[in-house]
This record gives sequence, C-alpha cells and structure tokens, in this order.
Amino acid sequence: MIEATPIRFFENKPSRLSADGKLTDSFGRKLTYMRISVTDRCNMRCDYCRPSADAYKAEPHAHILQYEEIERIVRIAADMGVSKLRITGGEPLVRRDLPVLISKLAGIPGISDLSMTTNATLLAKYAEDLADAGLNRINISLDSLNALRFRRLTGGELAPVVAGIKAARAAGMTPIKLNTVLMRGINAGGEQCEVAELIDFAMSQDATIRFIELMPMKQGMYWEEHYISIDDVLQREDVRSRVDVNAPLVTGNTAARYLPLKSGAGEVGFIMPMSERFCEGCNRLRLTSDGGLRSCLPADDQLNLRDLIRQGGNDNDIRSLFLRSALIKPEIGIYDFTADSEKRSMIHIGG
Ligand code: GTP
Ligand code: 5AD
Ligand code: SF4
Repeated sequence: MIEATPIRFFENKPSRLSADGKLTDSFGRKLTYMRISVTDRCNMRCDYCRPSADAYKAEPHAHILQYEEIERIVRIAADMGVSKLRITGGEPLVRRDLPVLISKLAGIPGISDLSMTTNATLLAKYAEDLADAGLNRINISLDSLNALRFRRLTGGELAPVVAGIKAARAAGMTPIKLNTVLMRGINAGGEQCEVAELIDFAMSQDATIRFIELMPMKQGMYWEEHYISIDDVLQREDVRSRVDVNAPLVTGNTAARYLPLKSGAGEVGFIMPMSERFCEGCNRLRLTSDGGLRSCLPADDQLNLRDLIRQGGNDNDIRSLFLRSALIKPEIGIYDFTADSEKRSMIHIGG
C-alpha cells in the first residue's frame, strides 16, 4: 500500500514551473514525459518482472484509478508542460475499453505524442481500434524468437505476439519499437544468444529493436546470474557484422542510444540503465495504476494522487503534488540489489 500524502501541504509554495511553463526538477530537468500504468495485471509472467503467479498479489479493483481520474490528472499535467504520454501496465490491453481512454487522452490540448508499451499478445485484436483512437506509436516486448524459450520465460505464446507486430504495422502505427531485455544464459551470452537473429527479425518487420540491460527489481529474476552488459554483447562477431559499432552513439531525449545498421536499413537501440546511466537527460514522471506519482523508476518515493483526488483535492492540490514530485526527483536513480528489498516490483510501476 502507498502512504497517504498530506493534502494542501505545498499550497503556498511558489510554483517550480520554468519560465516557459514547464514542470522542472531541482536539477533543471524538464519533466515533459509521463508514463501511465493503467493496470498492474498481466496475462504473462516474465521472469524478470514477476516470476510466478503467487509471488505477486494484484491490487483490488477499487484501488485502481478510473479513466476519469486519469484524464483529470493528465489535463493538469499537460497544463504543466507534459506533452508526451506512454501507456504501460502490467499489460495495458487487459484493461477493459482501453481505446476509450486513448481517445480521451489524445484529445487533451498539449499532448503531442501518445504511445504504449505492450506484450502484444492481444494487439492483433485491438491495433486498429487503438490507432483510430489516436495511439500514434507502439513499443512491443520481444525477448525470444524461439517459441519454447519464449513460453518458458514469459508463460505466454510467441505466435500472437508476432501477429500483433504485423497488425500494428497494418494499422499504420509508426515507428514500431521492439524491446528485448538481455539475460545471460537465456537469450544472451554464449551460444543461445539471439541478438543477431532479433536484429534480422526487426528489419524484416520494418521495426526498430532496442536491447535493454536487466535491472534488479523486486520479484524479478536473480540479477547477478543473468545480467549482461550491452558492451559484452557488442563484442560478438555476429553482432558486429550487422551493427556499426564504431559509429558514434546517437543520443536523444530518451533512454535509448542508437547505432546504425551496416546494411544502411535503420538503427539498433541500446538501453543501459546499469552500465551507462541516462539520468542526466531524464524527463520522466510515472503514474502507477493505483494512483502513485513517482519521479524516478528505482526510487520508492511515491506520492499518493489517488487519495488526494478521492478525498476531494482540487486542481491546485494536484498541481502541488506534481511540483512536490519534481522537487524530490533524485539526480540519479539508485538500484537496490538486496533480494528482500522493500521496493516495488516492475509490474507495479509499469517499466
Ligand atoms: P521511447 O519514447 O519510444 O524511446 O520509449 P521508452 O524507451 O521511454 O519506453 P519503453 O517503455 O519502450 O522503455 C523500454 C524500457 O526501458 C522500459 O521498460 C524500462 O525497462 C527502460 N526504461 C524506460 N525508461 C526508463 C527510465 O526512466 N529509467 C530506467 N532506469 N529505465 C527506463
Ligand atoms: N529489467 C529491465 N527491463 C525490464 N522490464 C521489466 N522488468 C525489467 C527489468 N527487470 C521492461 C521490459 C519489458 C517492459 C514492460 O519493462 O522492457 O518489456
Ligand atoms: Fe530517470 Fe530515475 Fe530512470 Fe534515472 S533511474 S533515468 S532519474 S527514472
């Protein structure tokens, strides 16, 4: 459970909006990107996120923000400079009527980028409705192209995910990004390494693939055993024959760094939360499905927007909580490596 936050605590504090009206943290970073988890439920159980069905108890439905509550929060966030939204989960598509929420959020003035991160198992069914509702792009988790390995790792099936990728493309969502978490002994490091094969697959689907370093998160898999750095993966001959490792890494206002493909047909992304912190340019806020406002993924300082709203907080109270969240955003995120960490698990936060 998240702690109740004192209401009206910051009411009389001066605004920390910058001169251009954007929410800014104590280190001068503008917080223009909000990731919104719409559910903590998922139809898969990826080992790095929640290893078994009983290791994680989902929040009761009454604790989860309603669409009207999310819409109200986003209107205020947009007024404070948030322009980019990403819908996450759990698995966002297990939440009923998601296109209804998408169309409401797409219509909010100031929102210029609306995307979603999904495991794609249900995407073939919803891609067209989502695109019609205003979802302009999508990121899809894909950790293996081997059906047996995929099932062991995720508890789900590979074929619907591949169908989901094709459906997203057919619905005109662009770009399509594939996310692969690298795990030594599973899909990386040694003979079972799938990096080269995944790059080829992404190219064949007109998608951009990004490889992500495993983060030690509560209820996630044993980090020391499975972590492998991007640097290690870039030493492989089959990767070097595809990726121009001598080109300068292209950085942007995002967690990923990109290298060009030697074929000239696009680029490959690398997300390196462990070996190369990208906190300096971090522009993120997170809203958890149960209404927690977090300004850093691994930091557990979470403010309770849900209780504030349900206890009758007005728009200024909500603005104050955003300002406070920006004030407590740490300069860099610190990971807790202890197995009995009290920190929240990834399925709770939404990635
Ligand atoms: P783009 O706007 O398309 O670049 O999206 P994104 O990379 O921000 O979103 P996505 O959900 O695809 O992120 C992929 C993964 O990168 C997440 O699931 C996390 O594992 C990791 N990640 C994203 N943002 C952060 C962050 O702020 N901090 C850390 N430590 N990891 C992050
Ligand atoms: N380490 C790195 N990435 C993770 N994700 C979830 N758990 C972890 C972790 N422990 C990311 C993956 C997944 C998305 C939902 O969150 O990219 O596809
Ligand atoms: Fe931002 Fe925290 Fe991630 Fe660093 S660790 S990039 S500060 S969310």
